[in-house]
Amino acid sequence: MLKDAARRLYPAGWPRTRLRLRLVVCPFERLLERVPPPSRVLDAGCGGGLFLALLAASGRLERGVGFDPGVGAIAVARAMADRLPEASLSFEHGVVEDPWPAGSFDVVSMIDVLHHVAPRQQRTAIERGLERVAPGGIFLYKDMCTRPRWRELANRAHDLLAARQWIHTVPLPTVVEWARDAGFAATHTERINRLCYGHDLAIFERRD
Ligand SMILES: C[S@@+](CC[C@H](N)C(=O)[O-])C[C@H]1O[C@@H](n2cnc3c(N)ncnc32)[C@H](O)[C@@H]1O
Repeated sequence: MLKDAARRLYPAGWPRTRLRLRLVVCPFERLLERVPPPSRVLDAGCGGGLFLALLAASGRLERGVGFDPGVGAIAVARAMADRLPEASLSFEHGVVEDPWPAGSFDVVSMIDVLHHVAPRQQRTAIERGLERVAPGGIFLYKDMCTRPRWRELANRAHDLLAARQWIHTVPLPTVVEWARDAGFAATHTERINRLCYGHDLAIFERRD
């Protein structure tokens, strides 16, 4: 179903091939099921908009806003949104270190972005995302594991090749601690191993 949606929403070519590789590596189906329909979703570091596209295609999206620094990525995301005129989707350029798009959202997602952010800015990035969560909403966080070491190294090698970047992975307990200090509790955490990669998923909700 996810591959079919990607084929329908992205034209043939390198962007689609790249996004279909994302579907092989990243357990999107496990992320989608965490989003209650219909949700207003803010996706930080949205890349080509794949997560919002899949949410729209699966009928979970009321409104989607994505932002990313990649000029090409946002162009791909906007072209995808043009293919889904019935969905309320918008995409803008931006980084998690700068002020985020205005508004509050049922779901704020940050999928495989934090390890691209400079360590001194990572805590701020998480806090900015939490600030955008509407009452009763969730912060959906997914990033690469730091343990076991061989899985962490596999991801590091992947990013060195694919993004030409030496990444900065953060142990999940550290992110949980930052969120706790900001008034949020991790209501769900999960390790998902896929191929040689290890994914840490966490859902945060505001503490009463
Ligand atoms: C592995 S991709 C993930 C894209 C998308 N979240 C997904 O799951 O398909 C990492 C994304 O993070 C974006 N990124 C890198 N540094 C960023 C930053 N400082 N703020 C926001 N996004 C950033 C990149 O442009 C890239 O699109």
